[in-house]
Amino acid sequence: MGEGGPFRRLLNYMKPHRRTVRLAAFCSVFNKFWDLAPPLLIGLAVDVVVLREESTLANVGLVDPWHQLVALSVLTFLIWGLESLFEYFYGVLWRNLAQTVQHELRLDTFDHVQQQGMTWFDERQKGDILAILNDDINQLERFLDKGANDLLQVSTTVIVVGAVFLLISWQVALFAVLPIPLIVWGSFRYQRSLEPRYAKVRQAAGQMNALLENDLSGMSTVQSFTAEANELRRVEVLSDAYREANREAIRLSAAFTPLIRMAILVGFTATLLLGGWFTLEGTMAVGAYSVLVFMTQRLLWPLTRLGETFDLYQRAMASSTRVLDVLASPIELQQGEYSPDLETRKTSSIALEDLSFGYPDREPLFNHLSLTFEHGKTTGVVGSTGAGKTSLVRLLLRFAEPQQGHVTWCDQPIETWKLHSLRSSIALVDQHITLFPTTILENIRYGRPAATDEEVIEAAEIAEAAAFVANLPSGWETLVGEGGHRLSGGQRQRVAIARAVLKDAPLLILDEATSAVDNETEAALQRSIERISRGRTTIVIAHRLSTVRNADRIVVLEEGEVMEDGRHDDLVSLGGIYARLWSVQTGEGR
Ligand code: UTP
Ligand code: MG
Repeated sequence: MGEGGPFRRLLNYMKPHRRTVRLAAFCSVFNKFWDLAPPLLIGLAVDVVVLREESTLANVGLVDPWHQLVALSVLTFLIWGLESLFEYFYGVLWRNLAQTVQHELRLDTFDHVQQQGMTWFDERQKGDILAILNDDINQLERFLDKGANDLLQVSTTVIVVGAVFLLISWQVALFAVLPIPLIVWGSFRYQRSLEPRYAKVRQAAGQMNALLENDLSGMSTVQSFTAEANELRRVEVLSDAYREANREAIRLSAAFTPLIRMAILVGFTATLLLGGWFTLEGTMAVGAYSVLVFMTQRLLWPLTRLGETFDLYQRAMASSTRVLDVLASPIELQQGEYSPDLETRKTSSIALEDLSFGYPDREPLFNHLSLTFEHGKTTGVVGSTGAGKTSLVRLLLRFAEPQQGHVTWCDQPIETWKLHSLRSSIALVDQHITLFPTTILENIRYGRPAATDEEVIEAAEIAEAAAFVANLPSGWETLVGEGGHRLSGGQRQRVAIARAVLKDAPLLILDEATSAVDNETEAALQRSIERISRGRTTIVIAHRLSTVRNADRIVVLEEGEVMEDGRHDDLVSLGGIYARLWSVQTGEGR
């Protein structure tokens, strides 16, 4: 996905930092430039002691050899000072740039991920997304931290050394320097073959992360089924796949440095022999010969490190492909601009109009379903498990999209609504409650972040939560643990109800919200809910019929269709599905 190679895509992403990149690149190049000066200084110094009054410096006007040496020393100080200065600047610039880019990239990617629809998440594993947001972005950070500088400095070295060689002796340059661009090009091609291997490494890392994440979050299930050995084996298989993927990459990448060294050896020997011969013949100055020999030394080290740098580069590219692919994945959930005012939302019914829906690769769940939830009224929804009750809620929140037909609210299909308007109009107590690992107070406040402590406590009282919270040693400050596992199922539900109550939205949806509390608490909750749902559109989904008994209307959903529809008493006297369920639950059935 996306256009062009990963490097171009990354550059595109970094466009806003163009100026910093240029400045950092400038400092890298100049640091290298001054770093390459000492061999020249050595050459000049040798020149002074060998040729004395006929040295190169003497030709510039400094005749006295002693003056020449002093001048050289001053020059050395200057050059080393400049080198250090530029080193400091490129260090600060590149490293801060790496930090800025990783920070922005992580935020952008997370922001993008948060906007994705539920189908996007269904297609992916949480652990893999986590690996992208963490490891892959860090990989990029490592490359920007030093890789970019390394590449620039190697290039500068080759160009400067090449120029010096050409100036001193084109014959030696022919043997020593000309092959270098070829070597660099060859090594880049060589490292290119690493790209697919590193892509595999990153993929393997993502898969392993996903499994680890699953195992850790389901640890109590793993342990209760004594499946530890089994899980260990599964982790072993994936960890082994990761190791194998890395081995494939290492096999290639480890051979690189020795190969480069051998290639450079040719140039080094050529300089030694050819340059030495010219010097013995008298066609090359001793000073010039020294410059050449020291310069080839300068080439050796950065070029052998090129392997490491290209390696870092290829890893970074494999990672940025993953990150940028997430950023490039389109947000399929399109939203409109419609944003009715609160009064309109409160006084409009919600209707499913000729709606057909099915999950991917599944039998259709709803076929031409039409159903209206009247405003200000409480509608109970009952039906056997798997009938599609929760799916109905998902359609209302646009966590799922119908294949045909619409959900309309305020006479507008909800696709034309601003997503924020729609979702902030719905307070949902989900069938699967998610609490965040913070205090009870903060979990309830999630419903309305601006709420005062008093408002939070009031909501908790309505949700019958205040009493149990008061009995906890840390009270409102009790930490609920990951997913809220430190609370009982019924306590969790009441915290979730309080959170929804606090949100105070025009539509309240309770999906099996009281399934885990005892009968007495449920009866108390029932009264509270009746109070807060007065004049508010409310949908109550429940298996326990006593929960929906007092609803203004009860809908029986079976096989994606509304089979019965009416008040409790009417449905009981109808003698159909509902009546049967009721008699079973009240014990009158047999
Ligand atoms: P629901 O989750 O809507 O059923 O799934 P329900 O009525 O609320 O059931 P209970 O009472 O909570 O148990 C309806 C159907 O859709 C499938 C389910 O397998 C079920 O058959 N489904 C649900 C999917 O295929 N994919 C999903 O992501 C969710
Ligand atoms: Mg359900």
